[in-house]
Amino acid sequence: MNINLSRPSTASIDISHGVLIFGTMLSAKPEKILEIGIGTGFITNFLLDGISYNQKGILTSIDNFYDLGGNLPNHVLQNLQQKDNINIVAPIEEKEFVLSSKNNEYDFLVSDGDHVHSGEWVDEIFRIMSPNAFMFFHDVNNSGFPGLMNYKILADKYNKPNYLFTQSSRNDEQCHRGLLMVINTK
Ligand SMILES: C[S@@+](CC[C@H](N)C(=O)[O-])C[C@H]1O[C@@H](n2cnc3c(N)ncnc32)[C@H](O)[C@@H]1O
Repeated sequence: MNINLSRPSTASIDISHGVLIFGTMLSAKPEKILEIGIGTGFITNFLLDGISYNQKGILTSIDNFYDLGGNLPNHVLQNLQQKDNINIVAPIEEKEFVLSSKNNEYDFLVSDGDHVHSGEWVDEIFRIMSPNAFMFFHDVNNSGFPGLMNYKILADKYNKPNYLFTQSSRNDEQCHRGLLMVINTK
């Protein structure tokens, strides 16, 4: 397996945080993985590499194509559509998808979709994720999107173990934007 460690743009999650997500996935061995917000596809491919390594799992990736101009799939999506083990649900609004999903449906999450409003349906995210699911939320410490801090506030309120990674050590990192890791104890 050739894992791509070149981040295509600063729009994507940092490499160090991507490796954290990848390593957690390799150890947690999830069955049903949910990605909210495909963007550059950088993390989507990490998750597909994780499925390939684990030899188990299915990825559901959702997007409303907002960052893609609301248009037809670009080369990122066309490339992903040809891969195995991925179910792309798009275009769809995050809120609509989450509110219509079943309880405990997914057991691993990377959330990097609706940066303005998703802090309004944190309880719904916790509902659709299974007990003890690992969940990652990007940009939680980004002052441009203050509502995302609700993920940490509510994880703390419900005593769900969590840690917010914010440290950069290189000039080419934007880790200060924050990657929140939460275990969905219920
Ligand atoms: C910052 S990008 C995700 C970056 C991705 N994690 C990566 O590493 O490349 C955010 C993505 O969420 C999508 N998005 C934004 N608002 C959304 C919404 N309300 N519902 C669904 N997807 C949304 C955008 O189209 C975009 O693809």
